[in-house]
Amino acid sequence: MGIDVEALRRETPGCAAGVVHLNNAGAALMPRPVVEALTEHIREEALRGGYEAEEAARPALGRFYAEAAALVGGSPEEIAFVDSATRAWQAVVLAIDWRDGDEVITCRSEYASHMIALLRAQAARGIVVRVAPDLPSGEVDAQAVAAMVGPRTRLICITHIPTNDGLVNPAEAVGAVARAHGVPFLLDACQSVGQMPIDVGALGCTMLSATGRKYLRGPRGTGFLWVARDWAESVTPPTLDVNSAEWTGPASFAVAPAARRFELWERSTAGQVGLGVACAYARATGVEAMAERILALAGRLRTALEGVTGVRVHDQGRRRSGIVTFSAEGLPAPEAVRRLREEAGINTSVSGVQPTRQALHAAGLTQLVRASVHAYNTDDEIDRLVEHMGRLVAVAQRPARPRASPRPVAFPHEPTPGQGAQP
Ligand SMILES: Cc1ncc(COP(=O)(O)O)c(C=O)c1O
Repeated sequence: MGIDVEALRRETPGCAAGVVHLNNAGAALMPRPVVEALTEHIREEALRGGYEAEEAARPALGRFYAEAAALVGGSPEEIAFVDSATRAWQAVVLAIDWRDGDEVITCRSEYASHMIALLRAQAARGIVVRVAPDLPSGEVDAQAVAAMVGPRTRLICITHIPTNDGLVNPAEAVGAVARAHGVPFLLDACQSVGQMPIDVGALGCTMLSATGRKYLRGPRGTGFLWVARDWAESVTPPTLDVNSAEWTGPASFAVAPAARRFELWERSTAGQVGLGVACAYARATGVEAMAERILALAGRLRTALEGVTGVRVHDQGRRRSGIVTFSAEGLPAPEAVRRLREEAGINTSVSGVQPTRQALHAAGLTQLVRASVHAYNTDDEIDRLVEHMGRLVAVAQRPARPRASPRPVAFPHEPTPGQGAQP
């Protein structure tokens, strides 16, 4: 099934408003059905009361579990609604009863918030964080992961599509290693859910974390966790409340079954309804067809950018995603992002470079421009970005006029203070 791009764009208020949105790895544009479900629920809350609106929305809230499960090949009771993917990820990692000397194997492109949590657990609980090497092509080396598994390995976790590189990690191969050794496998699928078909069975996942606002095109402040029922019921999450557990007697409580034990009572019900609609919208559009189109658009963008003098594309990997990262000679990433937005109405973002990308750090690059395409983007939008980058670089490279005040050398460059990278 192909994609009806015109219909997708008609259903996307942001496209109709004229924004060229190439920041889908940050937060994509919501389609109209998601916007309407969200606003309708908020209106109901205002008119009826929050709890009363929730009661009326029970069917829609229930559909969220079915839709999210269908999207990743799980079952509804294995889905928990969360307010961010980081929350989901940390909830499962911190549910493990880590003992001094237990090991976790991760990858060099692990998301920064996850690395921070692991390093904290290393300091506080004495766990050993082992980082698997990359292949020369940039993806995590699944064979190296296999060689690192030992008797103390309690978890293998990797990022499927890193936030700041255009590659796709070989999740299936790493999942097979985990399965072969009977080690739980946690996949951060934040950038891949909604971007490409996901099947937790084929990937060998034990848990999978996802966010709502990126390729899924859901509301901000939403996400979900998929967790295999058996594993979920073998652990106790770090935070329990009246939804994830029941107070059964003066001195006793029972933890809820399956994924529900990872889900708190208070939440954005509008967000949950909206995320359910976003999951349904992605499936109705066709995730496979979207994946094809995203790859074609990203390929076009990389090829065109590589043809612009002074621009360098930094994506690694044999298998690519819709994320395109690049730098421009003489133009720091925050300035390029700002000027693209202010002068041409094109949204991109600044991406921090992982401390493990040594080659880039050696070249003085700690920030890149990230352009991330979705199925509703067009060739024309890609071409507009490339043309404007060409103009910006040409101006940045023009020799300075004799009496102009000296400007700092911007390539290789350091980040501009106060302009941090965006997730
Ligand atoms: C690869 C990856 N993992 C995890 C996250 C964190 O997601 P959230 O901000 O929903 O916690 C992000 C966000 O940018 C991401 O890109």
